[in-house]
Amino acid sequence: MSGARHIAPDALQPKKFAFSAANAKKATAIIKKYPKGRQQSAVMPLLTLAQQQNGGWIPRAAVESIANMLEMPFIRVFEVATFYTMYNLAPVGEFHVQCCTTTPCWLRGSDDVVRACRDELGIDFGQVTPDGKFGLTEVECLGACCNAPMIEITTPEWDHFFEDLDYQSTRKVLAALRRGEMPKTGSQTGRISSEPEELTSLSSQKQALAAKKAG
Ligand code: FES
Repeated sequence: MSGARHIAPDALQPKKFAFSAANAKKATAIIKKYPKGRQQSAVMPLLTLAQQQNGGWIPRAAVESIANMLEMPFIRVFEVATFYTMYNLAPVGEFHVQCCTTTPCWLRGSDDVVRACRDELGIDFGQVTPDGKFGLTEVECLGACCNAPMIEITTPEWDHFFEDLDYQSTRKVLAALRRGEMPKTGSQTGRISSEPEELTSLSSQKQALAAKKAG
């Protein structure tokens, strides 16, 4: 597993960060949800808001700005931002491809999915394609083990799971995004939600009964 957090170098860090007018309003509403003196509880939603506004990653200036808003020491906000892997501290590309390699996905072929990502994108974990379109990250279980192996792709506009993948279908998903097309989300083998791949005993019985009636 790649546990290292990538923090953008100084050259990529903006000097200043301020919430847009719309997001400042949202931030105020979020802070108001907490009792007086407990406004620090808003730190996580504010980090999420900053990440959404900044194209998928949180610059140091945003951490400073949130620390000031919540009257927290910078290091306390930074600790939260560096602890949770859902916060990105360096650019992750327009399409942030997150490959799950935890045991259920690994047993079901995540090595092939990772290989497909590397082959299709020409980058490794922790890297972004030179055109800034795709970033690749290795992640722990994303809670879709029933449909393993899977990847999550996040953009500023949407966030989807792509499941039941293999080498070919992973490349197909990524190639479609590169062409500007929206690939099918969810299971890539066509099963609905996480229904069993085989017939259940109930549906088998129904089919057997129908065959009996017909025959
Ligand atoms: S192990 Fe991959 S989603 Fe749970």
